[in-house]
Amino acid sequence: MSLPGRFITLEGGEAAGKSTQIARLAERLRRQGRSVLELREPGGTPLGEKIRHLLKHDPDGRGMSPETELLLMNASRAELVRQRILPALQSGQIVLCDRFYDSTVAYQGFGRGLDLAAVQSVIQLAVGGLRPDRTLWLDVAPEIARTRLAGRKAAQATSEPSDRFDEEQEAFFARVTQGFREAFHAEPDRWRHVDAGGSLECVEEAVWSAISDLF
Ligand code: TMP
Repeated sequence: MSLPGRFITLEGGEAAGKSTQIARLAERLRRQGRSVLELREPGGTPLGEKIRHLLKHDPDGRGMSPETELLLMNASRAELVRQRILPALQSGQIVLCDRFYDSTVAYQGFGRGLDLAAVQSVIQLAVGGLRPDRTLWLDVAPEIARTRLAGRKAAQATSEPSDRFDEEQEAFFARVTQGFREAFHAEPDRWRHVDAGGSLECVEEAVWSAISDLF
């Protein structure tokens, strides 16, 4: 699918700093006079944000089956693709998305252990032929991620509802990382690896060099 815009996705485990880096990248592209749309998954549409709440925070979502999780992630995605991503790409915008279908392969495929062919066919239904032009894997060592998460939880303790994914065990996140690793090796022309363990400024520069050839 060839569209006038550019579609860039950021992937990685918890506390990799994706949302901070998306904001910095968007700012930098806008300073160059480019039109940028920032999105996140699950979410990014009114319906998608409701689905996000069900998936992450709603007590009724506790203990949902992996199959339900897969379908809800992709229900949110189907809306996002049709309502926001495709129209923006058709009008020549740069779309930056905090997670996309590679997260489904990593979390529901590798993390939850769902059949990878089934996962792929649900993704296909949700996105049609859409594929990111570039995907960055913000990779951070588990010790650094743990320290960042502990800091974040302490800061949010009184204001944020609990998050179903934050309660997963280390073995789950190790499988998720393996999922990103395999996706990265399977499509080296689409993916770039970014060491996300350094300072915000260092990571910002690495993100910039990983995408600047697209323009
Ligand atoms: P985040 O926006 O804070 O990263 O939260 C989104 C959570 O949802 C995160 O734990 C990863 C998870 N997720 C999946 O399990 N599958 C998916 O397809 C996507 C987009 C996210």
